[in-house]
Parts: sequence; C-alpha cells; structure tokens
Amino acid sequence: MLILLLLLAGLPTYAQEAVHGGPVRALAVAADGTLASAGFDQAMILWEAGGGRPRAVVRWDGGAVNALAALPGGGFASSGEDGRIALWPAVPGLEPLRVLEGHGGPVAALAVRGGLLASASWDGTARVWDLGGGPVRVLEGHQGNVNAVVFRGDGLLASAGFDGTLRLWPGQGVSLTLAEFGLPLNALVALPGDVLAVGGADGLLRLVGPGGGVREVRAGARPIVAIAAAPDGRHLAVAGLGGSVTLWEAASLRLVHTLEGPGLPVWSVAYAPDGASLWTGGTDRRVRRWDATTGRPMGPIETESTEAPPAGLHPQGARVFRACSACHALTPAAGPMAGPHLHGLFGRRMGAVPGYAYSERLARGDITWTRETVADLFTRGPDEVTPGTRMPIQTVGNAEDLGALLDFLEMATR
Ligand code: HEC
Repeated sequence: MLILLLLLAGLPTYAQEAVHGGPVRALAVAADGTLASAGFDQAMILWEAGGGRPRAVVRWDGGAVNALAALPGGGFASSGEDGRIALWPAVPGLEPLRVLEGHGGPVAALAVRGGLLASASWDGTARVWDLGGGPVRVLEGHQGNVNAVVFRGDGLLASAGFDGTLRLWPGQGVSLTLAEFGLPLNALVALPGDVLAVGGADGLLRLVGPGGGVREVRAGARPIVAIAAAPDGRHLAVAGLGGSVTLWEAASLRLVHTLEGPGLPVWSVAYAPDGASLWTGGTDRRVRRWDATTGRPMGPIETESTEAPPAGLHPQGARVFRACSACHALTPAAGPMAGPHLHGLFGRRMGAVPGYAYSERLARGDITWTRETVADLFTRGPDEVTPGTRMPIQTVGNAEDLGALLDFLEMATR
C-alpha cells in the first residue's frame, strides 16, 4: 500500500488513489461544473468538469489553502494560511492573475457576488475587494477570528466568527449584529429569502431569518466545520468534525440523508451545479462524489489515467503508480495532463519535457532522474527535495512499495 505523508499525526492511512498530499480543506465549483479542491498540501487542483481527472495543479500559496471561491467569468480565488488572496484564470499558469494583499492573518473563507470578493480572516477583519480594482472595504467589529463570510440575496455581506456573532455589513463601517450565539461559529451560507444558515461549535444548524429570527436543529454532536447550499437553495449539506455529513431540506429543517461510507470525516462540501450530486473532501486526502438524492457514495473521482499501463507489467508497482496516474502519463501520446509525462524518465534531466510549464525549481534542471533520485524524491518528499515544486506533497513510506514503483517506472517509461 502506498503510504502518503500524513500531515496530521495519528490518522489512519488509506489506499493509493489520493491525489492531494494532505486533508482537503476547501472545494469550489464553477458554473460550468469545473471543480477546484485545495488543502493542507498547499496545492489547488482543478478537475475536469463533472469530476474527471485533474486538469491542472497550482502550488503557489505559502501555506495551507483554506478557502476557494469560483470567480465570475471563470477561474477561482484561493487563499489560506499566508493571508494573500490569489486570483486564477480558468486555465491557470504558474503565477496568479492578481494577488490581493492586506490581511494580517490566515484567511478562512471567501465569497463572491458580482464583481465583489469578500474574505474572512483570523486577523479579526473581513474585507470586501472590488475585482474591478476599486477600493477595499475593511470591516472591523468582530472580536477575534472571522471564520465565515457570505453575500445574502439582498447583496448585504454577512460574517460569523469565533465571538459567536452573526453580523451584517450595510456599509460605511457599520456593523449590525443579526444574532448572537455565545459559541464559535465556523460556517455560513445564504438561502433564498435572505435566510442565513450558520453552524458552529455545538453542532446545531441554525437558520437565521432576515430580521434575526432563529430556527435550529441538531446536525451532529460535534462542531460543524462546513455547510453547502444546493444551487436552488432548497437543500443543505452539513459536515461535522465528528464524521457525519447530513443532508437537510432547508425549509422544513427535515433530515433527508446521513452520508455513510469511506472518506469521513470531511472538512469541505460543495454541490454540483445541477444539485444532483455533491463533493466532499477530508482527511483521507481524496475528493469524493455522492448522490444528493440517495445519499450514496459515487466513489472517488475517477483518478485513473485513460491510458492503460502495459498488461501484466509488475502488478504491485502498477498499483502503487495509480496514485500518480491521475497527473502523469507514461507516454507523450497521452496528451496534456496536470503533470509532465514520464516517458524516458530514468536518465532524463529534471524539468525537460518540452512545452510543459514547470515551476522555477524544476525548470532549473539540476537533478537527473535515476532510481536513486526518484527514490529520494518520494522518501523525503517533493517539498524537501525540490522546494517550490508544484507537485503536491507526498511520500511513499513503505520500502517494498517504493521498490515496486521504481521497478514499474523502469519498465513502463522506457
Ligand atoms: C496531483 C498531481 C500529481 C500527482 C498525484 C503526482 N504528481 Fe508528479 N508532478 C506533478 C506536477 C504538477 C509536476 C511538475 C512540478 C513542477 O513543475 O514543479 C510533477 C513532477 C514530477 C516529476 C518530475 C518530472 C520532470 O519532468 O522533471 C516526477 C519524477 C514525478 N512527478 C513523479 C511522480 C510519481 C512517481 C507520482 C506518484 C507517486 C507522482 N509524481 C504523483 C503532479 C503530480
């Protein structure tokens, strides 16, 4: 079994097809169905629409990526531990289109409406950025970390945080406390009719009406870490750190399904644009798809390459390579993928596939790939051997699996 680097000590290890190198902390879906996932491995991965293979990997943030939002007109905003917000086009290059700087602490959440981007930060502020380049609004009032932001249907920004308050920001630095719960709030989404759904430390899902009226229901025994609203606003998915994801009918607060299956607990949830399926991302480093109508798992996103490795070639090594095949082809013929093809790998200089946009570190070409250097890459990890690389942090911790992978590569990349 391939054992990838676990960033949180004591977690169980899982089988091989994880594509992220750490827990998946954030998911966002664009109107065309393109999914973006990001997490503790500092990488953002863009997936083919509908959940196909990874289309691109971006590793730019100087820390974990906590928050993603789809941008109007395509592309995504990403932010996290280092407090900078990066704006990426639909087909990302090595550098973001724009970087929004100002937060003095990690960013925990992003929201977009029209030409405005809102961010919630542990520096105690929320900010509203004009994507057209206008002035930034700095919203001060929360005591401590701001954990969540969302635009209500009426255009007002709402925020929630560690201080237990749910606030509205009508403008001119005015902050209105819409509701106060006296416990840390983590997740916030907007529903039709200017209703907000908010969740926090006590595991209660609360619906807050436009005037501050509250209805609540227990969604799990443990803190709620993420909430997603279906595109039509009629259903909610609620993820709790205790492990469960529950699906609710928003109007009646009726429990529709409890998701059961592998990949729990999760850190992030997002609905597909048609509302028929949803994605979860969590500690097992995978992105999983679920049927929103039945609550059943639809399996991990297809990470297998369409290119079948030569039949019968080193079964154990081929199995270990499944974790790589989401991003790497074995031959140039397979066409562009998120990572460079590995044909002729042994004896090839680092960063040498023509036309592939390598990171600066790999483009330097100062390592020649051999059994030894590839073994080192997956023993110490890409972030140690080639700091600044875009390949998500991962290691093959089991000597037998590593040997099998190298044997397989030696034969299959020749
Ligand atoms: C999520 C996508 C992804 C996965 C999974 C992945 N890689 Fe990569 N890999 C990349 C990217 C992107 C690069 C280019 C990095 C850069 O430019 O910094 C890369 C670069 C490499 C390189 C250097 C290639 C060169 O031309 O210099 C090797 C070797 C490699 N990967 C092997 C592997 C192996 C073996 C696995 C499985 C154990 C694996 N990768 C898993 C995305 C991935």
